[in-house]
Amino acid sequence: MNLILLGPPGAGKGTQAKLIEDSRKIVQLSTGDMLRAAVAAGSDIGQKAKAVMERGELVSDGIVIDIISERIDEPDSQAGFILDGFPRTVAQAEALDTLLAEKGKVLDAVIEMRADDDKLVERITGRFTCGNCGEGYHDVYKRPAREGICDKCGATEFKRRADDNAETVRSRLEAYHAQTKPLITYYGDRGKLSSVDGLASIDDVEKQIEEVLNGIGSNE
Ligand code: AP5
Repeated sequence: MNLILLGPPGAGKGTQAKLIEDSRKIVQLSTGDMLRAAVAAGSDIGQKAKAVMERGELVSDGIVIDIISERIDEPDSQAGFILDGFPRTVAQAEALDTLLAEKGKVLDAVIEMRADDDKLVERITGRFTCGNCGEGYHDVYKRPAREGICDKCGATEFKRRADDNAETVRSRLEAYHAQTKPLITYYGDRGKLSSVDGLASIDDVEKQIEEVLNGIGSNE
């Protein structure tokens, strides 16, 4: 099963991608995570991406298309994948269509996670992750069961993203509305789009997505 999670920053794409990974045994492919790893490693791509990400703008299409094309070829993507944060422009969506056709793969569904901008700022500025395993948390909505200890791996170091401040979040939202939102029409026109209410609780959103995934193939 090959999926896209589409939605504004903070809509819960990463949170739900991890839940789908566990339930469906398919891999999360997050271009944001890949770019942050490149920045941390100081690679050529990382050096090009760093300032762009800090401004909350989009990295060039060519860079992310190459990253995703290579990543889809890796062994752990063969059972299926969840694209989280890609595509983000119509040019990226067209490139994805071409590269999936070349690789003999099919896109099964695009799940739009709907959410209002006001709520998203609160979501993003409250976010933190485990410094060891990357498990995601939130100051209000998802705290570790034992304070200061990661539920998943037991680590005690947590981190916050450099672009998770109110000013950069506003730029990221502008980029979403101008460049990514047109993909709702793009995939709607192709009969691939389903929508869920991203403002519901994490459990409820998971259930809504589960319903969409259970329906894949039944309408064909
Ligand atoms: P990226 O890393 O993709 O960030 P984003 O799209 O801005 O999305 P986020 O990771 O911020 O949000 P999310 O939807 O995953 O929410 P989450 O689950 O964490 O991109 C970063 C940057 O990289 C971009 O700005 C750009 O520069 C560059 N980039 C990446 N891909 C690119 C591409 N394809 N092209 C060009 N540039 C690219 O949830 C947020 C918080 O809310 C968490 O704390 C979570 O616990 C909490 N939460 C989640 N769901 C719920 C819920 N239902 N109820 C309550 N709380 C919830």
